[in-house]
Amino acid sequence: MIILGFETSCDETAVSLVEDGRNILSNVIASQVELHARYGGVVPEIASRQHLLEIIPTIRSAFSLSGLGWGDVDAVAVTKGPGLAGSLLVGVNVAKSLAFSKRLPLIGINHLEGHIYANWLEGHDPGAESGFPLICLITSGGHTDLVLMEDIGKYVLLGRTRDDAAGEAFDKAARILGLGFPGGPLVQKASEGAKGTEILPRAWLKGTDDFSFSGIKTALLNKVKDRGVYPLTGNSGPDSTTVREMASAFQESVSEVMAVKTIDAARRHKARGIILGGGVAANSKLRAMLRDMSPVALYIPSPSLCTDNGAMIGAAGYFQTRNNLWDSWDMDIYPNLGFS
Ligand code: KG4
Ligand code: ZN
Repeated sequence: MIILGFETSCDETAVSLVEDGRNILSNVIASQVELHARYGGVVPEIASRQHLLEIIPTIRSAFSLSGLGWGDVDAVAVTKGPGLAGSLLVGVNVAKSLAFSKRLPLIGINHLEGHIYANWLEGHDPGAESGFPLICLITSGGHTDLVLMEDIGKYVLLGRTRDDAAGEAFDKAARILGLGFPGGPLVQKASEGAKGTEILPRAWLKGTDDFSFSGIKTALLNKVKDRGVYPLTGNSGPDSTTVREMASAFQESVSEVMAVKTIDAARRHKARGIILGGGVAANSKLRAMLRDMSPVALYIPSPSLCTDNGAMIGAAGYFQTRNNLWDSWDMDIYPNLGFS
């Protein structure tokens, strides 16, 4: 079964052709990062206008790179939420129009489930290899959710962030440190080879599966002020020793909390495996910590499949059809969609 997957929930216009939920035939992403970088974050109005400009060329590239035509496509899957309303509307309306005109069935996808099924795209099948239940950590710019996956399409939300998402915290930390946008990859880069003994606090929220990342961001701001690198001066750029040390301390703190809490949830729920997804799952420190600590099989997509892409939507679409979940032409967008 070949699915055309659309993802436009935030600032990537992404279209992919995926076979049987596992085999990527093409995966094209038109990134808007440079447009938003000068504002230090995603500007919703700019994002939706850019999706309008990019979506048709992106569909054309996805077809031409795969060598397929419309006659090969069996269904159209599109992110229906969560995300920015204006951005979601572009993907949903284009997907609906094309599915209707080509007489193809439509599948609306929860973006967060998409991040989970990215783990099925690179030769692994966590459900078949390890079995259920699986613990999923979905950590991105908008979400930090711990989810118990009892089967394909069956989820229980265990915990979530009570304030900032981890990616949001990375982005704010990068702003404090003068590193630019998006912050996650830049904090990771600044941390490489950093020396120093600085330690930032961890918010454990013991007895819950919830997270909190806004306190650590304030702790970072106070420390850099104490160290005299804030407000930023000519000497406090990405190469300054203090900036590198603080970036590393921040990355260490956020990663350790997520890794420890994920392992703890896996033990309590007797999970057979752990799955990661979302942009922050691309972080090398978080990946390394989980690799060291996990008592069960650990699945993490390649970094380019952790951040938003259309292939994960095509994969999620396939698994949704196995549960016979299709959508009709009155499907709406759901900017606040979650797991429950
Ligand atoms: O999943 P994603 O592409 O979009 C959302 O669904 O939000 O995640 C984007 C987030 C951004 O906050 C970005 O800073 C973060 O993922 N991110 C990272 C890394 N790469 C992307 N955070 C930490 N380390 C990275 N290497
Ligand atoms: Zn995402």
